Amino acid sequence: MTTPAPQAAMVRVAIGPGYDVVIGPGVLAGLGGPALRAGLWDTSGPRADSAHGLEAGATQAKPTKAAVLVDQRLASRYAPEVAASLSAAGVESFVVPLLAAESAKTMEAAREGLVEMARHKLDRSGVVIALGGGLVGDVAGFCAAVYRRGIRFIQCPTTLLSMVDASVGGKTGVNLDIGDDETTNIQKNFVGVFHQPSVVLADTSTLDTLPMRDLRSGLAECIKHALIAGAVPGVAWPNSLAWTEELLPRVLAREPSALTQLIAKNVELKARVVEEDEREERPDGGRALLNLGHTFAHAIEPISHLRPDTTDASSPLTHGEAVALGLVAAAHASLALGLCSLAYAERVRQLVRAAGLPDRISGLPPAETLIERMSHDKKTRAGVLRVIVPHDDARASVMTPAHEALVAGWRAIARS
Ligand SMILES: NC(=O)c1ccc[n+]([C@@H]2O[C@H](COP(=O)([O-])OP(=O)(O)OC[C@H]3O[C@@H](n4cnc5c(N)ncnc54)[C@H](O)[C@@H]3O)[C@@H](O)[C@H]2O)c1
Repeated sequence: MTTPAPQAAMVRVAIGPGYDVVIGPGVLAGLGGPALRAGLWDTSGPRADSAHGLEAGATQAKPTKAAVLVDQRLASRYAPEVAASLSAAGVESFVVPLLAAESAKTMEAAREGLVEMARHKLDRSGVVIALGGGLVGDVAGFCAAVYRRGIRFIQCPTTLLSMVDASVGGKTGVNLDIGDDETTNIQKNFVGVFHQPSVVLADTSTLDTLPMRDLRSGLAECIKHALIAGAVPGVAWPNSLAWTEELLPRVLAREPSALTQLIAKNVELKARVVEEDEREERPDGGRALLNLGHTFAHAIEPISHLRPDTTDASSPLTHGEAVALGLVAAAHASLALGLCSLAYAERVRQLVRAAGLPDRISGLPPAETLIERMSHDKKTRAGVLRVIVPHDDARASVMTPAHEALVAGWRAIARS
């Protein structure tokens, strides 16, 4: 097990051989250091975890080479530190810049990464370092999962969303365009592999450069986690909403200890969820709970004319902003179903507002159109719409709500 630096926190994820998520300012500098080596290659001898992407019999040999797949916007700022730390540990590295844009989260981007890895003769003892937000983490993880039938990878998330969500749980992949020569038809995360990282290093000081809008967007997933905390077995997070409300001002001020606390608590929740349901197979509870707010969000995220009123944003809704609106809509759908109180639904709205996220939006299409869009969500099973609804006291359940409840949800976020 890894030993965290004094100001750092650590959460263990018990999937397969297990891995540590190390959280705190400056943890990236320890990438090649003893802490990481322990996480990566202390255990000598054969492994038998082919279910986690490594062939049975592959050993935990010390890597001599690392491929650093990095968000190209961050390459000059963070990649040299990573390379120096690896070099000090005797690990040679090379950098592969990736464009962090949904339009570039493609098979072609993965192919380019794989080709660079092969050209640099990365062998099966090699390691992939994913340095960036969730987008780079997903693509780099996918490359690691399929390269020579799977090699180890390390997540170094640099956005709040990727620290509290994307870097933990082993989902990797790219989007697939199934359009023809004239049209594009992007299916998000349609090609991918479950492949757990060997260790996750969430360096909170990288958040200093993250735009405020992206920081707020990550908070939407934290609010979601606080709303399901009571429904996840094994999570000790009493009064999760009050806890989050109280911490928010310090998080928005990017106070290092507050960021570490927030991320550690949220990673703990995500870890307990994915440990129970690694491959999202449970129809109720499990990973499905993480979709709270998302079925509403997916219906509005692609609508390019929607703009949040809370920021001076000139670009469409971010994923986190759509999720924030989805959380408010889900809470009000729950209210209409008699599953939560008005006070609770309004508390969700206040929390979203306190994070500087939108709780209402102008220009929404009619509710009927949005409900139709919801029924096409990729998480729909056998054509039946399944929505996660929050209940009082941070509980939540998976259900098929009555039509009127969905209408009430959409009305609750429409700005007239
Ligand atoms: N694997 C999973 O379980 C999982 C879960 C949730 C989301 N995702 C995926 O994650 C992706 C979204 O991730 P994201 O929100 O982290 O976005 P992102 O990786 O696209 O990053 C958002 C923006 O922030 C910039 N950026 C990243 N780190 C920065 C830093 N420290 N300083 C300055 N700028 C920085 C990026 O260049 C980009 O412009 C989506 O593709 C989504 O599908 C995956």
